[in-house]
Amino acid sequence: MHSFDSFFEPPFERIAEDLAHRGYSIIDCALPDDMTLQLSQRLLHLIRQDDESLQVAGIGRGDQHAQNRFVRQDKIRWLEQDNSAEKAWLEYMSELRVYLNRRLFLGLFSYESHFAHYRPGAFYKTHLDAFRGQANRILSTVLYLNKHWQTKDGGELVMYNDDQLIATVLPAYGRLVVFLSEEFPHEVNPTQRNRYSIAGWFRVNTSNNDKVDPPR
Ligand code: OGA
Ligand code: MN
Repeated sequence: MHSFDSFFEPPFERIAEDLAHRGYSIIDCALPDDMTLQLSQRLLHLIRQDDESLQVAGIGRGDQHAQNRFVRQDKIRWLEQDNSAEKAWLEYMSELRVYLNRRLFLGLFSYESHFAHYRPGAFYKTHLDAFRGQANRILSTVLYLNKHWQTKDGGELVMYNDDQLIATVLPAYGRLVVFLSEEFPHEVNPTQRNRYSIAGWFRVNTSNNDKVDPPR
């Protein structure tokens, strides 16, 4: 059972095929139009409502914010179930998770995601999303919420594999990127405009007797 109306076919099979063949997928109009609109309005609302609702992002676990500014300059806010737009997104991604587990046997256990806002001039230097030695982030996702993005606006997602450039992606409205977290170093070029997105990660369960992970 899914929550979409009968006009919208979620692109889950294409994502599965792309992941199986090359490890990443780039899909335009990935969500029903109204879902994309609600999410973009929700993010703009959060930003306008209160400057504190998005926080300076960290790197890794246990942060030194002064150093972070050389690496990433976005502001973020984690999505929760208590807002209808955020809930719809988390449910969509949960359906994708179940689909990919059936199709590719990935054993994805949970999904976490945050809104991100890059102000003009902000960037995110080349990094991997999977924490080294923890191997719990399996798939990365980014949904973009920027109408009329042009090449001159910068802010591209640039993906590499073995130091080879493999994709330069404009953060265009409704575009979803999904990729294997441990395979693709990537960066966000300095943006010339306000840049809005939702980044997220599917994890496997790495719980043991000492700790419960994921913590959220
Ligand atoms: C991230 C990230 C890419 C993007 O948040 O880890 O790499 O295009 N984002 O926003
Ligand atoms: Mn990343």
